[in-house]
Amino acid sequence: MKVEDQSTQPGSGTGVAQYPELAGRVAVVTGAARGMGACFALGLANQGVHVIGVDLDQDVLQKSFDTARQEGRLASNGTGSLTAMRCDVSRRDELFKVAAEAKARFGRLDIWINNAGVFIQAPIAGVTPEEVERTFGVNVDGVIFGAQAAAGAMQGGGVIINMASVAAFRVRRGRPVYSASKAAVHSLTQSLAVELGDQGIRVNGVAPGFIDTEMTNWVKENPEAMAKALSTVPLGRIGTPEQVFNALLFLVSDSASYISGQTLGVDGGSRHG
Ligand SMILES: NC(=O)c1ccc[n+]([C@@H]2O[C@H](COP(=O)([O-])OP(=O)(O)OC[C@H]3O[C@@H](n4cnc5c(N)ncnc54)[C@H](O)[C@@H]3O)[C@@H](O)[C@H]2O)c1
Repeated sequence: MKVEDQSTQPGSGTGVAQYPELAGRVAVVTGAARGMGACFALGLANQGVHVIGVDLDQDVLQKSFDTARQEGRLASNGTGSLTAMRCDVSRRDELFKVAAEAKARFGRLDIWINNAGVFIQAPIAGVTPEEVERTFGVNVDGVIFGAQAAAGAMQGGGVIINMASVAAFRVRRGRPVYSASKAAVHSLTQSLAVELGDQGIRVNGVAPGFIDTEMTNWVKENPEAMAKALSTVPLGRIGTPEQVFNALLFLVSDSASYISGQTLGVDGGSRHG
């Protein structure tokens, strides 16, 4: 499979915008062990942000951060840092522990990225109660209680980003539960922007299309499914986590200081494809 060349590392190479105001700020990124979450955590750290990355398996997460350091992908001359912490985002108490850890360790919390998510391909006829509970537990409860934990810990403002999906806007056969969970995320982004605006907290969403992560391996491994997926992308190619990061970085930065309640598609045009 051909993936568009992305020789630059998130936040450290040419072609990636630099936002000096982010240096010294503190962020939480959920689902940071791999895929887009790993890219966001590293990219923010390379902007000078202290990042607490959380995921279900702390060992895998720690290894991913250690490897980034060993391979020189984390700028050694910057102020940024990567800390790994175990957290199941479907558990409210665990999310609150993460927010408390950010405050205890760094004295502040500025950015919270609700990225962790699970995909389920299951037509309505066969989907089980367990699958529905898990999908909504991670994708929706995780955003609700992630935002609650974040807003409680932020002082004098902050930024929350929710990972939606093109599936929130453009339904396709076989994924009603996933689409509904991401439509809920889109709706939550709007409501949270309204409710948290008076605390100076901006809430925005990012809605990726077809992105090259482990979540989409099942498509990439099947030539027929791959051709079908690409036929829905006007730009005709799969996206990379770095391309999604570039959009997220703008929304997190002060350049987006008057943007709240928006969900930005990063989907090669798929919302209309
Ligand atoms: N890859 C795509 O094409 C695509 C498209 C649209 C939206 N998204 C969304 O983007 C986000 C990131 O997707 P990705 O492709 O990087 O996925 P991924 O499956 O590669 O990574 C998801 C990460 O979330 C973690 N996670 C899952 N359940 C968790 C839980 N309960 N608590 C803590 N961590 C948990 C996983 O361990 C994993 O590290 C998700 O919300 C996903 O729904 C992805």
